[in-house]
This record gives sequence, structure tokens and C-alpha cells, in this order.
Amino acid sequence: MSESFVSGPSVGSAAPDLVVPGLERRVSHAEPRVLAFVRDGKLTEPVTELPTIRAELRGLGAELVVVSPGGVWSVRADDPLEPLAAASAELAAEVSDAAQRYGVTHDEDAVFVIDGRGVVRFNHRLERRGRALWATLTDALTIAGRAAHMREGHDARQRVLFTRREWTVTCLVVGCATAFLSACKEQEHRPADRRSPPAEPAPPDVEVMLRINGTVHRLTIDPRTSLLDALRERLGMTGTKKGCDGGQCGACTVLIDGKRVVSCLTLAAMVGDRDITTIEGLARDGALHPVQRAFVEHDGLQCGYCTPGQIMSAVALIREGHATSDDEVREQMSGNLCRCGAYPNIIAAIQAARRTRG
Ligand code: FES
Ligand code: FES
Repeated sequence: MSESFVSGPSVGSAAPDLVVPGLERRVSHAEPRVLAFVRDGKLTEPVTELPTIRAELRGLGAELVVVSPGGVWSVRADDPLEPLAAASAELAAEVSDAAQRYGVTHDEDAVFVIDGRGVVRFNHRLERRGRALWATLTDALTIAGRAAHMREGHDARQRVLFTRREWTVTCLVVGCATAFLSACKEQEHRPADRRSPPAEPAPPDVEVMLRINGTVHRLTIDPRTSLLDALRERLGMTGTKKGCDGGQCGACTVLIDGKRVVSCLTLAAMVGDRDITTIEGLARDGALHPVQRAFVEHDGLQCGYCTPGQIMSAVALIREGHATSDDEVREQMSGNLCRCGAYPNIIAAIQAARRTRG
């Protein structure tokens, strides 16, 4: 399977603009993107390949946008599959124009990986060979990830694309540069003994053993790694969510020895001999935990992003025996924020689970 098109934008060249209904707010090149043109896209849920697709997207640090006359969809590493545009005559015309700009003919499927600066980093013509669309896309993403890895060397998939985080950091760095340079200038005129000491070198990696949901995992990590990052980035346990990364939203709540903690402010290196429970560890033998079930039955979620943290907090809260009245539940759950405002149903779910427990 060839990596480069003869007619499409080549690797290293600027990606043509993409104007597709539903995608207007996403056409900025500030975000790395995998663009898939498919000739007959049909969304048949559930898309069983989603976990694999998400894992590849996480590695590439990119969003997948599937563009077809049958609709436009977005898939991100941590968000539900999102339809951006439905099939229409207008969409079909726009898709045809866009595909032409990318050198893709109406009987072809193709994938382009575009970095945060709008440069094509990989392109690939899909060969379905009778396989379903999402399975073929999964293969293409795997090939893109592998190509990125080979091109940049060991551990480079994180570096091939200009991620949102890198973009933000770059903006901050540029924004601070002037202030920094002025400070340096000022520093030159100060007596030597008032200068800042040189930066400390990075500490050496440490080996840790984490007991998570009854399974022991051994990792070699920077000692400054948070438990949240160890779970999500190193172990692929993405049920625990990263919201604020600063101890304020509760999305990252896990249980350590049965007590709720925010994993974003907990160092992985400090919890080695303790029992960690994450949202993935609640269900037993394929049956949801009573609190999970109550959240489903009482519609205790909307987008669902805060839900793992809410559920972990609720499990501990009920075990602690606190909170019999709604006001107490509100007080005890005040560390878990929900941007969708699903609070009334969350409280109803917790009260129902508490009553079931007796
Ligand atoms: S991500 Fe940990 S509290 Fe918000
Ligand atoms: S359900 Fe969306 S943030 Fe809580």
C-alpha cells in the first residue's frame, strides 16, 4: 500500500483548505487532524472499532474527521463519536469539491494526517478489499501511527504532530518571551549573588508498582508523574478523566484504600503499596455496580465526562455512611463539578443507590 499520492498534496506540503458543512468551526489548522475521505460513509452504530481508533488518535494527538457524501463525523480520543453534518445534496457537492482539492477521486478512499501547522504529514489510499469502512479506517490509522513512529524514531508518535497542548504551550512561551528577555537584561545589571540558581536537572526515573483494581502493574516513570497520567497515558486506563488537572473539578476521582482522592494531585510514586480502584474496577462479572446502575436509571449524566468521577465519589460517600438528606449529598459531592448541570439527577441516583444498599 503506497504512502504517497501522485495527485494529492504530498507529505511536507500545505494541506488545502477544507470547507464542509458542520466543520466550519474546526477548519483551523491549529489542531492536528486525520482527514478521511470515504466514498460511501454510513454510520452503523455501535462502531466496534472505536476503542482501537481512539487509542491510535491518542498516540497521534489528533482528531479524526470522516468526510463522505453520507455525512461528516468527528472522533476524538476521549469524546463520543460526534456527527457534524448529515447527508444532503449540498454536503455531497461540498465533499466532492473538497475531495478534488485533495486529489481524491469519487471512487477512492483516502486518509491524510495534517499537523497543527496545516502540513500534510502522511497520506494513504485505503484499500477496503470487501471490509467495512471503520475496520479499514482503523488499519489506516495504525499505518499512520507506525509511519510517524518510523519517521521520527523511538517514542516519536507524541512528537510528530503539533498537539493542542504544544500549541497552547508555544503560545504561552511566545507570549512570555518579551517579559523573560527584559528580566534577563535586568538581571545582567544585578550583583552576581542576587542571580537565580541554575535549574535543577530532571530527577532520575523510578520504578513503581501500582495495584489497580486488583492487578499489579510495574512502571518506570518520572517521579513527578501524577497517578492520573500514569493511569491514562501509561496504562491506557482512560475511564478516569482529566478535567482541570489542578484538583478543582473531581473528574479524576479514584479510590485509594477506599477513600476518594483526586488522582491529578496524587503522585503515582507515592501510592505503590495501596489499593487503587478506578471506574473500570467497579463492575463485577459483567454486571454494573449499583451506583453505576442508578446513574443509568436516573439519567445522572448528559455528556458523561464528569460521570466516572461522580460515580467514584458517590461509591465512597455511600460507604462512608454520610449524606442521608439531599443537602448532605450536595455538600459531600461538592468537589465533583458537572458542566452540564446534571446535579438533580445525580443526587436522585445517589439517593436511590444508598436506599438500595439499606
Ligand atoms: S482533573 Fe483532577 S480535580 Fe480536575
Ligand atoms: S454530565 Fe457533562 S459534565 Fe457532567
